[in-house]
Amino acid sequence: MTEGKARLQGKVAIVTGAGSSGPGYGTGKAASALFAREGARVLLVDREPERAEETSAIIAEEGGEASVFEADVTSSDDCRAMVEAAVQRYGRLDALMNNVAVIKTGNVVEVDEDDWDTAMDVNLKGMMLASKHAIPAMAESGGGSIVNISSVEAVRSGTFAPLTPYSVSKGGVATLTISMAVQHGRENIRANCIMPGFIYTPMVAPLLSEEMRSLRARCAPLGVEGTAWDVARAALFLASDEARWITGVALPVDAGLLAASPLSMLPYLRE
Ligand SMILES: NC(=O)c1ccc[n+]([C@@H]2O[C@H](COP(=O)([O-])OP(=O)(O)OC[C@H]3O[C@@H](n4cnc5c(N)ncnc54)[C@H](O)[C@@H]3O)[C@@H](O)[C@H]2O)c1
Repeated sequence: MTEGKARLQGKVAIVTGAGSSGPGYGTGKAASALFAREGARVLLVDREPERAEETSAIIAEEGGEASVFEADVTSSDDCRAMVEAAVQRYGRLDALMNNVAVIKTGNVVEVDEDDWDTAMDVNLKGMMLASKHAIPAMAESGGGSIVNISSVEAVRSGTFAPLTPYSVSKGGVATLTISMAVQHGRENIRANCIMPGFIYTPMVAPLLSEEMRSLRARCAPLGVEGTAWDVARAALFLASDEARWITGVALPVDAGLLAASPLSMLPYLRE
């Protein structure tokens, strides 16, 4: 916490996927809690409202201000209603964190077409639709910040399995971010994305053996496992006015994973 004014004081934020798909903290849950601690009023959006209620209870316990809104980000009507709810409840809109995603696996030969469509709909179209409705409301409030959650999978393939539909959708998120940054800069709207590396969250926990979990930590230069909080802290910075001159950026939050060649990490993988 900074001295004096909290970093999002007076701001209103929407976080999509503000619940967690299992016990513990996913990125949306951690970011919602952090945003509220820093003074933001937060609309907690999730397709499964009981998950967002958990986040809401944590924020209330910490003395923050937040409320739940049930929405499926693949629906334009839901996204419009979500933005209207934020403005109705809190009077303005300053930040949107597009965090929702689902994992879909397979290479192009084996991929199921429905899985492909779901990955594009939820992971990419959902961010476009949420932004489509949020941008005019932000412009009305004098500007704002959009933080999209991409992945290192956007630029490195096969982090623990063939994930072509997921990977391509995350590449699309990076491109969508650039496009929005350029098209809406003059409305004082910034758009940036974060490329999380191998973080341990409820979404991936059921997919990982202990060995894989350890390898994921060891294959990046810092050699330490990341958490949802590492991504949430970066999102907080990008959402805040501290990042007022930063837009169109894809920020890896990955313990240096993207900086390393596979061979440079070999000694640590043999440990
Ligand atoms: N865990 C990792 O290693 C990792 C790495 C890179 C990127 N990411 C990204 O981080 C983000 C968050 O992942 P997480 O593991 O923290 O998430 P999570 O699974 O904990 O939470 C996601 C939430 O989104 C909700 N949701 C799913 N589909 C929805 C929809 N259509 N509309 C509204 N809500 C919906 C779920 O109910 C859930 O509560 C994702 O974009 C993911 O791709 C994760």
